[in-house]
Amino acid sequence: MSLSTADDLLVLPESWRADFPILAGRASSGQPLIYLDNAASTQRPVPVINALRHLDENDYANVHRGIHTLSERSTEQYELAREKVRCFINAQHVHEIIFTSGTTASINTVARSWGDANVRDGDEILVTTMEHHSNLVPWQQLVARTGATLRHIPITDDGVLNLEALDELLTDRTKLLAVASVSNVLGTINPIPELISRARTVGAKVLVDAAQSVPHMPTDVLAWDADFVAFSGHKMVGPSGIGVLYGKEGLLDAMPPFLGGGSMINHVYVDRFTTAELPEKFEAGTPPIGPAIGLGAAVDYLQGVGLEKIHAHEKSLIRYACTQLREIEGLSMLGPSPEERAGLVSFTLNQPHAHDIAQLLDRDGIAVRAGHHCAQPLHDWLDITATTRASFYLYNTPKEVDALVESLGRVQSRFRPSGRKRRPRRRS
Ligand code: ALA
Repeated sequence: MSLSTADDLLVLPESWRADFPILAGRASSGQPLIYLDNAASTQRPVPVINALRHLDENDYANVHRGIHTLSERSTEQYELAREKVRCFINAQHVHEIIFTSGTTASINTVARSWGDANVRDGDEILVTTMEHHSNLVPWQQLVARTGATLRHIPITDDGVLNLEALDELLTDRTKLLAVASVSNVLGTINPIPELISRARTVGAKVLVDAAQSVPHMPTDVLAWDADFVAFSGHKMVGPSGIGVLYGKEGLLDAMPPFLGGGSMINHVYVDRFTTAELPEKFEAGTPPIGPAIGLGAAVDYLQGVGLEKIHAHEKSLIRYACTQLREIEGLSMLGPSPEERAGLVSFTLNQPHAHDIAQLLDRDGIAVRAGHHCAQPLHDWLDITATTRASFYLYNTPKEVDALVESLGRVQSRFRPSGRKRRPRRRS
């Protein structure tokens, strides 16, 4: 298929875009907003905004505590959201869905609870060179507490995991493989089923940081056979402050609670407590009630659109974006071929620095992220300090890709050497 013009692409119905009020607005520069920072946080559609508003105007109270009507209504909606998430990722049991504040909290819960109970001096935790800090630092902290060792699956020059190295890295000392399903910098879609089946050969557990994949493609945790899966609401058209930890029932049951306080107890005596059942065991304190209910509405919305459709749209958009960006002189893209990547692309220009590029794009109303994207070890390995990242979602269009490319062209010409000759130095 030739992908030379925006018109070659199948564009998703404009009605989807119309669901997101912020996209009809203007950037602070006064230009129409082109939002390409979806790997950081996505925008919210009217049904999610309305669900939060409806809760606040009609049903809001604390959950699991009151026997008054509002508390019952809030509790019902909060638990319904849990069931929606279960269905969305095809978990077996609703109590395997733990609401947290986000992916970071989900991973830290596993590191603190499962990790402290199961990892010992001499054990090994396996991660990859492309992990986000949130799937790296908790394991660095765990090995520092326990005397275990952290090992890394290297990546190839093409930006994919070097699976040949796995034979040497996976040993009977490996207790856990913690891996992102999609890299937030390279866009690489990692082969999760293969990684899990290889980890099983040495009896290792597997945690999948699915923050960059759950919003963009169908997820089936049973088909993966993953032990733990973590993701966030704010990257999937939901509110911020809500995330999910999925864990297999047997593992979660055996894990000690991480945070102590209200809700996570069955009975408290002056000197001890007994622990609540799942999922409350891991939901100490008042949970993010509105955000969880908003996440339920986000799940409804994404299912209404269809994850297969979203994925196909993003694939088509990233193929187009890579084709167009390749034409820009001095631009280098990181990561694998469009076929092996999700809907995001990080790049560098000969000049200027990524932060300046992002600032100049912002003047054209284009929102991108610049920096190390919370993946400093990956940038160190690539020997670059910062990249600019454009990340797409269901509401982005090929015309927006064209606008990005045009704006990058303007950035280039601004920094292109003018051709003026240097003045000859005066002799003194
Ligand atoms: N993890 C988010 C990103 O990659 C914040 O931008």
